[in-house]
Amino acid sequence: MEEIIIEQKKFISGSLKLPSDKSISHRAIMLGAISQGRTDIKNCLECDDCNYTIRTFKEMGIKIVRKNGYTYVYGNGLFGLRKPSKKIFLGNSGTSMRLLLGILAGQNFKSILSADRGLSKRPMARVIKPLTLMGARIKGRNHSNFAPLEIEGSKLKPITYKLPIPSAQVKSAILLAGLYAKGKTTVKENFKSRDHTERMLICFGAKVEKKTFLCSVRGIADLKASIIEIPGDISSASFFIVASTLLKGSELVIEDVGINPTRVGFIEVLKRMGANITISKARITNQEPIAKIIVRYSPLKGTTLKRHEIPLCIDELPVLMVAASLSEGRTTIKGASELRVKETDRINSMVYNLKKLGAKIFSEGDDIYIEGVSQLRGSTVLSFNDHRTAMSMAVAGLLAKGKTRILGIECVTKSFPDFFITLKKLIR
Ligand code: S3P
Repeated sequence: MEEIIIEQKKFISGSLKLPSDKSISHRAIMLGAISQGRTDIKNCLECDDCNYTIRTFKEMGIKIVRKNGYTYVYGNGLFGLRKPSKKIFLGNSGTSMRLLLGILAGQNFKSILSADRGLSKRPMARVIKPLTLMGARIKGRNHSNFAPLEIEGSKLKPITYKLPIPSAQVKSAILLAGLYAKGKTTVKENFKSRDHTERMLICFGAKVEKKTFLCSVRGIADLKASIIEIPGDISSASFFIVASTLLKGSELVIEDVGINPTRVGFIEVLKRMGANITISKARITNQEPIAKIIVRYSPLKGTTLKRHEIPLCIDELPVLMVAASLSEGRTTIKGASELRVKETDRINSMVYNLKKLGAKIFSEGDDIYIEGVSQLRGSTVLSFNDHRTAMSMAVAGLLAKGKTRILGIECVTKSFPDFFITLKKLIR
């Protein structure tokens, strides 16, 4: 197990070079692989999770070449995938697994998806249920809720489905399966979740209808290859945004970062808490807004997260818990049950770790309560094999008095392989 010691630091300063957006990278590879012709992806993220997606399509006969900052995906059409000769292993990549289910359900061959121990414990019934309504035949362990999953490709029919939980992965799997179903497939949401799939489907020529809480796609003969530029990952930026906000004297510039409204919930929350974050130079590329962000130090006050905000900052809740721990007053996060089924139970991991650093944080059911303190103190904490827990605790470590030892940091390769190198360059 790898570990690191983080010492208390004065401030963050400089310009952040971000890794590319993980969610958008997965989608570009997938849609490129099932469209007709060569898709050129500029700045496709290089990390464990996206590598699993690439490897999967290579195993199904798709040529994918990485060269000089570009990833070329030689798509073979909706039905151009080849039956994989062996089980497909997806490591810890939940996005790969859930989205691929939507694509594999509509093929005319059988495939098996397997995962590492962590991902094999994450629920899949949420995806399998709607896909089964479309005619998919998917079997898994424990009432078809867990990997390994066996998918018998079949002819799919369109459905209208109301999501019982706000999940972009479930929504995306249904929309991707909808490409293979004759007619209109509709997903309705109570709370908005990230909408990269909807946006990218448009770039590949799919017939998409988009309203605030509803998205439809029509079955189509073929998607057209596209040219896609992937912006910087706002979720990866979140660690540096929080660190710069909390460390006195900090000023951080972040160029070319994705600011999709379904991803920037944590910025809204931080601003409400008093953060000094400015967004400028916005442009739209491939349907996605991209901008420059400047963050300066500012003291924070506690806040209450509204229920609809949770899916809009789901991956940033761990680092928001760090921010809340050092804010004045109380922060309340209610109804964060989805945090329990991420790479680890993130309510558990963050409450355990932050308490060790002297934070006043506790959970009750799926609600989290944090009473800000003026100082954290270094201690030994655990990543729980979760990249976002590890990176959030690195931010806490910069702020804690003394030394913070984080055990199990190798998991950051899942989304941000150079995280600790980048951090070292920016801290003073
Ligand atoms: C993702 C959706 C979210 C998020 C995950 C990536 C995606 O998961 O937590 O890191 O790319 O669609 P859920 O759909 O389970 O909320």
